[in-house]
Amino acid sequence: MTTQDFSRGAAYVDGAFVPIGDARISVLDWGFTHSDAVYDVVHVVDGAFFRLQAHLDRFRRSMAMRRMDVGMTMDEIRCNLHEVVALSGLRDAYVAMVALRGRPRIYGSRRPADCQNHLVTYAVPWVDVVPREVQERGARLKIADVPRVPDACFDPTVKNYQWGDLTTGLFQAHDEGYDSVILCDADNYVTEGPGFNIFSVWNGHVWTPDHGCLPGITRATVLELCTELGIPFSVGRLRRAELEVSDEAFITSSGGGVIRVQQINDRILPQAEESPVFKRLRQAYWEAHRDPRFHEPIGYHAYA
Ligand SMILES: Cc1ncc(COP(=O)(O)O)c(C=O)c1O
Repeated sequence: MTTQDFSRGAAYVDGAFVPIGDARISVLDWGFTHSDAVYDVVHVVDGAFFRLQAHLDRFRRSMAMRRMDVGMTMDEIRCNLHEVVALSGLRDAYVAMVALRGRPRIYGSRRPADCQNHLVTYAVPWVDVVPREVQERGARLKIADVPRVPDACFDPTVKNYQWGDLTTGLFQAHDEGYDSVILCDADNYVTEGPGFNIFSVWNGHVWTPDHGCLPGITRATVLELCTELGIPFSVGRLRRAELEVSDEAFITSSGGGVIRVQQINDRILPQAEESPVFKRLRQAYWEAHRDPRFHEPIGYHAYA
């Protein structure tokens, strides 16, 4: 029985579970000094993970792509995530798993292979990619001047902490009174935003980019739901000019689900209010949370 206060969230770091406020990493960790980390985020709704296996699969791939080995099996990481949520007691949570490069085992080594990789996990109260009140009215999005870092420089399918371009875009959007930002590549094809994928709907047809973006689990869920609901869709190149003339649009993220877009740059989308395709998909998305294939209840009792 623990006497620590986990009510603000719980974390696993350096091999121990601690209250979130006590979770620390070294300033010498390459995860900090070089942003040399991969991560994943899964949400817990009403006491259950949504699509945990898909998040674990993506996390395993991200680690492999960056040659990270945290010395734990994926089953051990799954159990660790259950434990960190159970300790927090949270029924609705933002749950992160982070693999950090760590510190070189040989002092002063500049060889990434010399570093002792390690796992950090944490569960904190639910976090939305845009605030709830913005979700209600629909997000106003700016297309940034800054281009997304090219895929050839850093593979965006590896979920990572290289957020320099996204942060620059966010500053521009907020300075100009928008809620968030969309980045295009240097050739003006749409990529993604800070923490979300983007969908454009035109004439009842759904479009989403095929490159320059993370293969979001929410995006994958939405595409599966399009198939189930008979909504036509394409995954391919989406030009900035095409996005700008969308009838309706939405963004997807584990931090909030399927979120309506009201405005892109200075244009209010003509179907922003009704957003018929968005509404069907959002409803189906939340219904999917009860699907036993995707729903994994937390073993709260096991760690009481
Ligand atoms: C850059 C980026 N794109 C897209 C997404 C959406 O992915 P998911 O639906 O798996 O949360 C995220 C998630 O945080 C992200 O960080």
